Amino acid sequence: MAKIVIIGTQWGDEGKGKIVDLLTPYFDNIARYQGGHNAGHTVCVKGTQFILHLIPTGILHPGKKCIIGNGVAVDPQALIKEMDELKREHIDFSRRFFVSDRAHMIMPYHLLADQQAEKKMGQRKIGTTGRGIGPAYIDKMARTGLRMGDLLEPDKLAEQLKVNLTVVGNVRHFAEIYPQYLEYAQKLIPYITDASLLLNQAMDKGESVLFEGAQGTMLDIDHGTYPYVTSSSACAGGACTGLGIGPTRIDGSLGVVKAYTTRVGNGPFPSELHGAEGEALRNKGAEFGATTGRARRCGWFDAVVVRYAVQINDIKSLAVTKLDVLDGYDKIKLCVGYELNGKRIDYFPANIKQVEDCQPIYEEMPGWRCSTKGITDYNRLPEATRFYLKRIGELTGAEISLISTGPERDETIFCSGTLLDGWLNRIVG
Ligand code: IMP
Repeated sequence: MAKIVIIGTQWGDEGKGKIVDLLTPYFDNIARYQGGHNAGHTVCVKGTQFILHLIPTGILHPGKKCIIGNGVAVDPQALIKEMDELKREHIDFSRRFFVSDRAHMIMPYHLLADQQAEKKMGQRKIGTTGRGIGPAYIDKMARTGLRMGDLLEPDKLAEQLKVNLTVVGNVRHFAEIYPQYLEYAQKLIPYITDASLLLNQAMDKGESVLFEGAQGTMLDIDHGTYPYVTSSSACAGGACTGLGIGPTRIDGSLGVVKAYTTRVGNGPFPSELHGAEGEALRNKGAEFGATTGRARRCGWFDAVVVRYAVQINDIKSLAVTKLDVLDGYDKIKLCVGYELNGKRIDYFPANIKQVEDCQPIYEEMPGWRCSTKGITDYNRLPEATRFYLKRIGELTGAEISLISTGPERDETIFCSGTLLDGWLNRIVG
């Protein structure tokens, strides 16, 4: 049975939520493997909008097993809040929601550290979501982190918590934080398990898995625009380490790509549109952060970025989202390369200073004046739209298998004869 990783190919916010939701009916298990409640996966179901931050999007589908892997940084308070909100919508968690005992916890001092670091960095701040993500992963790597499994061992939790609070000069807060975490334990213990074992056993039985990536390739700690990145492995490789599964278990990666580019927070963005043009695109696409509400920076499609994501994640299939947002433009630009120090380059540099100096080289093409909103048949798309999509496929080296023409589930074009088609056909037999 198919096991597919859903990967953001830009700086996050590509619309992964809708794509995961759309594909969930085909899969038995939906698993998150990195990030935390810095993510915001939006799903629209018959006019009602759900924003999932930490819980796999599959939870909206009754009966599907949803797993939070060891690679995720879990803020127990945020998790309980999100669960409570979903329970109010009659979403059931029993025997189908699992959290890895190896997942690290976000503690109150991580939130403080995140916010204070950002203040101190001034101009060079990353523009984090302020959720404590970076400091939680710092503790994980420093081997001083607390894990979900520690909620099952109150003595060990108390001991490490005291050490950690002493290190950050905050031990007086023990009396406040410890009982709080014991309370979270009461609520979360039923869901804490060895998620790697669970998932491997499910796959041994022939079950299918959708791996739900958060953020995007350009925010990956290793391959993104470092240091303006998040602190986890948002690329396909993260699915293995973040869930405890072997690489040969995975059939492939489906890259999610917005028909243009957006970014929240600081850091270079070569094809960014400034001023009125950027604002117009932001308003048209309602580009405001699903987690923090921050205005997203907007720009033209950058084929260098997506080609790089295709390479890093071995993406052969792309899902293009928010195509309808480009309706009505006279001309549309595609960034096909960069000019760096007077020379043309076609790759994405590792050096952040060089990325900052890159000037986009554009290919201009005719826009389409009519609406593509809600179109479900590829052949009904205007010729100029089909040409734009064809060019994206050529420039990135991946086939387009899915196109989203609106936020609702049915505002989607499934392209036939694609690799994704093959994966899904294998599942439905
Ligand atoms: P952090 O993940 O909160 O540490 O933030 C680091 C960078 O990643 C900042 O630029 C954030 O805006 C960005 N970021 C984190 N999560 C998301 C997301 O889900 N979508 C888009 N950007 C994100």
